[in-house]
Amino acid sequence: MPDPVISVKIGDLQMKNPVMTASGCYGYGEEYQDIVPLEAWGAVVVKGTTCAPREGNPPPRLVETPSGLINSVGLHNPGIETVIERELPRLGEKGVPVVVNLAGESEEEYIYLARRLEERAEVEAVELNISCPNVKKGGIAFGSDAVSAGKLVAKVRENFSRTLLVKLTPNVGNLPEIAGAVEKAGADALSLINTLRAMVIDIHAQKPVLPAGTGGLSGPAIKPVALRAVWEVTASVNVPVVGMGGIFTPEDAIEFILAGANAVAVGSAIFVNPRIPAEIVEGINSYMKQKGYENIGEMVGAARQ
Ligand SMILES: Cc1cc2nc3c(=O)[nH]c(=O)nc-3n(C[C@H](O)[C@H](O)[C@H](O)COP(=O)(O)O)c2cc1C
Repeated sequence: MPDPVISVKIGDLQMKNPVMTASGCYGYGEEYQDIVPLEAWGAVVVKGTTCAPREGNPPPRLVETPSGLINSVGLHNPGIETVIERELPRLGEKGVPVVVNLAGESEEEYIYLARRLEERAEVEAVELNISCPNVKKGGIAFGSDAVSAGKLVAKVRENFSRTLLVKLTPNVGNLPEIAGAVEKAGADALSLINTLRAMVIDIHAQKPVLPAGTGGLSGPAIKPVALRAVWEVTASVNVPVVGMGGIFTPEDAIEFILAGANAVAVGSAIFVNPRIPAEIVEGINSYMKQKGYENIGEMVGAARQ
């Protein structure tokens, strides 16, 4: 029996396998390159990038919980110009599609970022982060309201001709409504989910562990919430969905695909197992052979039928 087809197309983003990095968990790819080649991934989604460089929030920025990680990184990044000069030329040589995650404080900033990347051939897609829970201005304010989200996406759409993904927050009560508005405004795909707002208290200091108070929870604890989000959103939108949140094993990735995700992204698991993309690809391959699927598309949303 020939190997099943696991290549996936999201908008014009052609990936040899459906496993992407989740933004913020793989930097700009350099740190991990010697452990696991970039080429193992279907696409590399880089860190949240802003107009100006950002120092991020004061440390500690990460705290472990029994089944997840709370981060309050606050979009630490070198800014778009440095990313264009230093990171993109290196990333562009690897033969893996590059997706840049963008975060802005205003509509104008998102538009500026998208326009700067429109000029760069190395970038196949952008992912608009309108869901970061760790910054005070912008971002999640757009992602929490269907009208604002739709308006922002429509503006960016006018300024960016390649694949446009929009990353949504689960910290809302009307996710399908927001997803629908973003689809209608011209997004090519949705990324679900960003982290869930959470906190840990140090009982000795009698203070939150994170100086920012709260942060975003990721990892195994959020997988059921993420699956539910993918399930609900794919019931009402037609654009492809990239599912993420607590994917640590091939079985986790398969669950997301069966729930309706066309591709998956892995974040927190990279910190404990950088070799995870190859393992997930292998696991998906064997599952497809076992179930008699020839093309991964046949599996998408199979849990609904
Ligand atoms: C340390 C850290 C940094 C992150 N930074 C970003 C970011 O810059 N932009 C973004 O859209 N999501 C960011 N995220 C969210 C992840 O991309 C992902 O949506 C979330 O962690 C759920 O996936 P996981 O459970 O596999 O980690 C970050 C997550 C972590 C743990």
